Amino acid sequence: MICRNFARASAPAKVILFGEHFVVYGGPAILGSIDKRIRVSARPIASTKIRINSDIGYFASYPSDRLIESRPHFTEGERILYPLYAATHKVLKDHLMGTAKSIGVEIQLSTDIPLGAGLGSSAASCVATVAAVGSLFLRPDKDWVYSMALRAEKIIHENSSGADCYVSSFGGLIYFVKNIMNKKIRPKKALSLIVVNTGIKHSTKTLVTLVKNYRHENMSLYNDFANRATRICEQAVLAINVGDQIKLGQLMNENHTLLNELGVSNEIINDLVGFCLDKGASGAKITGAGGGGSIVVLIPNEYETSIISEISKKYSHQCISTKIGSSGLLTY
Ligand code: MEV
Repeated sequence: MICRNFARASAPAKVILFGEHFVVYGGPAILGSIDKRIRVSARPIASTKIRINSDIGYFASYPSDRLIESRPHFTEGERILYPLYAATHKVLKDHLMGTAKSIGVEIQLSTDIPLGAGLGSSAASCVATVAAVGSLFLRPDKDWVYSMALRAEKIIHENSSGADCYVSSFGGLIYFVKNIMNKKIRPKKALSLIVVNTGIKHSTKTLVTLVKNYRHENMSLYNDFANRATRICEQAVLAINVGDQIKLGQLMNENHTLLNELGVSNEIINDLVGFCLDKGASGAKITGAGGGGSIVVLIPNEYETSIISEISKKYSHQCISTKIGSSGLLTY
């Protein structure tokens, strides 16, 4: 067993272009990493503590020699950082195996991924934390990091499809089907989009539960939506392969309509999507769980600057211009 005295890792945010929610029940999704990242450093400490600090105002300290349950009286920081603690505890337990029991870990997170904005901040923090802590004891490969990070993410929402952790670990533009396949898509033209953060924080868990209930109560309607979502994804792969931005935009709009019918959009999001289309976007849709969070907008090059400035004027929302397919997990 190696024990380095310092390790660092970083992992990217993501956008889902097609198939969110349906991917939880086995449908395909297309998603890509973007150039917003979370950076995590880890160092062993001579105390039985796992201490986690973040630059977003949360701090927590937990025991390292036993796993405590998440408790109702936890502070907000202890509750939010709990999955990272559980993942760190598991890495320590697996790799110390009774040796050096008094070891703990201090973890520092710094992020430029907006929280609760549908951009995969939870998944990226799980991926980067597992990788940084794992790098203290071994040379972690991405498959190992992905499976450990997914365990941690499932503490946040147990029905996770795994798509967010996958793209944050491996990077690129990915066609993903839960537990079955993931393949890289190589777009003919680099895909550039803008991400508009509505500023309305959402909970992925709440929205995934909402869809679960909808599906339970309206199975045949849900199946109809799911079939349409699958067809949209298949056509989107073809459009990406040939670089057909017009078709891609239309498919994004169709996918947004489906998500709206499923109940995960709202008037504020629909208004923003409509505004972007009126101003010349080829397509716009929710990205991620919905209910707030962000939308992704595909814009012909000539309109990009004007649409961003119109959105900022009317809504004062954060607009991020981004290329899809940045590096996945990096360890140092
Ligand atoms: C959340 O980013 C994406 C969802 O499809 C949930 C999941 O895939 O686990 C809503």
